[in-house]
Amino acid sequence: MEKQRDEWGSRLGFILATIGSAVGLGNIWRFSYQAYENGGGAFLFPYIFALLTAGIPLLLLEMGFGFFTRNSAPSSFRKVGEKFEWVGWWSVLVAFTVVVYYIVIIAWSLLFVLESFSLGWTADPEAFFFGDFLGFSGSAFTFGGMQWHIFFALLIVWLVNYLIIAGGIEKGIEKASKIFMPLLALMILIIVARGVTLPGAMEGIKAFITPDFSKITDFNIWVGAYGQIFFTLSLGFGIMIAYSSYLPKKSDVVKNGIIAGVANSIFSIVVGFGVFGILGYMAYQQGVAIQDVATSGIGLAFIAFPKAINLLPGLPQLFGFAFFLSLTIAGLSSSISLIESVVSSLIDNFSLSRKKAITIVAIIGFILGVPMTTQGGLAILDIVDHFVNIFGLLTVGFVEMLVLSYAFDLNVIKDNMNESTDMHVGRSWTAMIKIVAPLFIGYGLIQNTISEFSNAYGGYPTSELVVFGWGVAALLVVVAVFISGKSQNEI
Ligand code: ALA
Repeated sequence: MEKQRDEWGSRLGFILATIGSAVGLGNIWRFSYQAYENGGGAFLFPYIFALLTAGIPLLLLEMGFGFFTRNSAPSSFRKVGEKFEWVGWWSVLVAFTVVVYYIVIIAWSLLFVLESFSLGWTADPEAFFFGDFLGFSGSAFTFGGMQWHIFFALLIVWLVNYLIIAGGIEKGIEKASKIFMPLLALMILIIVARGVTLPGAMEGIKAFITPDFSKITDFNIWVGAYGQIFFTLSLGFGIMIAYSSYLPKKSDVVKNGIIAGVANSIFSIVVGFGVFGILGYMAYQQGVAIQDVATSGIGLAFIAFPKAINLLPGLPQLFGFAFFLSLTIAGLSSSISLIESVVSSLIDNFSLSRKKAITIVAIIGFILGVPMTTQGGLAILDIVDHFVNIFGLLTVGFVEMLVLSYAFDLNVIKDNMNESTDMHVGRSWTAMIKIVAPLFIGYGLIQNTISEFSNAYGGYPTSELVVFGWGVAALLVVVAVFISGKSQNEI
């Protein structure tokens, strides 16, 4: 019994939603600090290499696969063979795990939008962030008390996601994307225009783009580049499979995919100019080197930026508002896609209504996020993020490529995509999926696994890494196998 499947209302709506999924927290802070930590311009080479050899090819593979099966990830993989359904559930569970902490970061951003009116992060944003704001205990096992402001912001962000997704594809996600994306573009325009025209900006931008080729042989940079490309293009989450399954027949998947992939990278690079312009200004104001103002990871957005905003001439509040609102909007347009991957899988495999599916996902997701609103939250979030990125999406993408290449026929997906485009994918695409990308990613994963054992990530105690890192990553596989057995019974 084939139910009437939701569809996108327009091509523009699909492209905006896909770009919305891709452009997220990953583009605004993650790309910039990755580029900076990994040798400035030397990072751009592996980044573009990873985009061309794995990013765009896998984006087209996931889109082409969903377009062909017209199903979410688990049932799409079941069409390849019953024993592969768990791969689909694995990607869906990775999306779910990521969105649990991703929404916590959106909640922080939302609270920082409010702080921006009064520059409430004080003259010492670092002390504010770790102290008043997070009340950070320093350990994942030391929950301490609840940070109620984060708890309530988390509730609000889940509610917004709930309302959009409950609205459906055309009336919910598509409509929201048509509001979010132009607003985001406007905010980013303000940030970049301001960032690159400040005194000292050129020094920051130089740090961003000046190559450091001594670092290019370091495999960590390559794993970093592939990881960044997967995260930023929303690959390995089942998102692109689900989103493309809602395309009307005869859609031009290839062009849509390339537009989304290229737009996303241009966005990252443009934002990088703005971010580093501002860091350059801060270094100039304080008379220190750019290396001394750029902090990595989450700190770049919630510590270095407020510090820079404090120093801005004119209306720093307006700039702070634009920055944190852009982070919030970019986050939301990605979180809805992460959740939709889960929701569409529940609808397709357990015959749930959309409302029921999103209610279940939102309630469980919110509850799982609550420990991250305690004083140990930052450590939990940081460890989960690190392990799920490598042993979740990167590994899922690797397995997806192998399954679809060797247990399925890539030509079926390719021919189906080529039927409705004049921009045909050819043999080079097949070669990337079958050989080049798996080789690079497989090698990177092996090297990375070895180094995880020799260097405890972030200096965390082994017990915390075992529970929130290795434990969570392994649990996702176990649960995926478990659910796949269940859903077959339901069909
Ligand atoms: N693609 C989304 C991001 O970059 C998940 O944040």
